[in-house]
Amino acid sequence: MKIFVLTGAGISAESGLGTFRDKDGVWTRYDLSEVATPEGFARDPAKVRAFYNARRANLAEASPNAAHVALARLEAALAARGGDLWLCTQNVDDLHEKAGSRRVVHMHGELAVTRCAHCQALRPDPGPLTAEAVCEACGRDGGARPHVVWFGEMPLHMDAIEDALAEADLFVSIGTSGSVYPAAGFVTEARAMGVATCEINLEPSANAYVFGEKHYGPASEVVPAWVERVLNGL
Ligand code: OAD
Repeated sequence: MKIFVLTGAGISAESGLGTFRDKDGVWTRYDLSEVATPEGFARDPAKVRAFYNARRANLAEASPNAAHVALARLEAALAARGGDLWLCTQNVDDLHEKAGSRRVVHMHGELAVTRCAHCQALRPDPGPLTAEAVCEACGRDGGARPHVVWFGEMPLHMDAIEDALAEADLFVSIGTSGSVYPAAGFVTEARAMGVATCEINLEPSANAYVFGEKHYGPASEVVPAWVERVLNGL
């Protein structure tokens, strides 16, 4: 069995990392055009770095919850039976990796990786972003930005994602509001290709009507229960 799982901010909510569009979500407190666009970074790089430095500090304190752990368990169990879990996340946190998932595709980038805006070189870097940091690849300063896909930029790994979606037997969406494309369109693509679909979320997402199977409640409870049912059915 090949399962394609898409995760969003809801899977990390119970680990203390905020979601974006819920009440008190990040985009209710910050103007995304100021902190999550290339234009915002060009206008005020210090404000953008401060925003992501606060998020890096939160991430350093966060631990995976039972939903992340259950997906890592599912990956290992499917692999042991000749199946495959293809885990694609919109999240820039590393809680899937911390829970033990071995292959995680970060379509919106990774918070704890710094990208040089001059030469695009990447380096793992959980500490604060600074204007003074000198890029080891090109030797210039002033270019340090988070390796996070901003609005107006192309999501990453799209070719591999499309291939994996086409090969899946089941598409499962966990903890995402279904409001940001292209990820929000995966369920429609999956359905059009005859792939079974399942939504797991706190409440029905914007695309809930497209999904064949639906389970609602906190991810830390609903995901482990769903994984248990999948493993029992193998
Ligand atoms: P959203 O904040 O848009 O949606 C989070 C979803 O998680 C909502 O539907 C909530 O109901 C649900 N949720 C909240 N708590 C939950 C819990 N404990 N268990 C299960 N579900 C829960 O976040 P995303 O859909 O991930 O992009 O947002 C997509 C993208 O928009 C993000 O990757 C980010 C953002 O702008 C970038 O930064 C590029």
